Amino acid sequence: MFKTPQLPTFAVTALILASCATTYNPLQGYEQVEPAPVLDAPSATESDYPAEQVERGRYMVALLGCGSCHTDGALIGEPNAARLLAGSEVGIARSNPLTVSHPGIIYPANITPDRETGIGDWTLEEIVTLLQSGVDIHGSQTLPVMPWLTYSLLLPEDAAAMAMYLKSVPPVKYQVPANVRPGQRAKAPFIHFGIYRRQQYEAE
Ligand code: HEC
Repeated sequence: MFKTPQLPTFAVTALILASCATTYNPLQGYEQVEPAPVLDAPSATESDYPAEQVERGRYMVALLGCGSCHTDGALIGEPNAARLLAGSEVGIARSNPLTVSHPGIIYPANITPDRETGIGDWTLEEIVTLLQSGVDIHGSQTLPVMPWLTYSLLLPEDAAAMAMYLKSVPPVKYQVPANVRPGQRAKAPFIHFGIYRRQQYEAE
């Protein structure tokens, strides 16, 4: 009776396994997550600013969902309620994960008034300038991942109220990870932003 030699079968299997191992999977190491919209903003403590404007600022910050980026864990659906607005340990890369393996990453800042790790040393004018033009206290242009282009349309009095509110929330000490330049390795987790149009599809 003819007996199938075992070796070729083994060789073919090994070959298939080897070719699988070398197939590039750009999404390896990724998992799908659902960001959590944070529509809450911490209560302000007593401050030198008029209560009415501070309350208006809180309303605007909650309405515009600043905490959806600036709160740790929110970007991966696990917002840390104890760290509202105190910055994110999860960064944002705005590039195509299918083609870029080491993207530039920015980490949403701590925007509570902690003097060391937050915006405690910023003046109201400096906060308003950032919201309306994206220019920070060092004169650098903030990347549009921070949606200042949209906020540039804020009425000056609303932007000022938001700045007064941000200076009146309890300061939280938390240092966000340093931004990562394109090509460098990330030392903290990050997500990708991006919308990709499918160019091929099956017509009916
Ligand atoms: C889509 C995510 C996102 C949203 C929403 C967002 N930000 Fe930001 N914001 C960022 C990122 C990322 C940075 C850091 C930018 C950088 O490092 O260049 C930043 C930076 C800032 C800074 C500068 C802080 C610093 O230390 O340099 C302020 C102030 C700020 N945001 C306030 C706000 C306010 C107020 C809102 C809501 C009206 C808001 N942001 C909404 C992502 C966001």
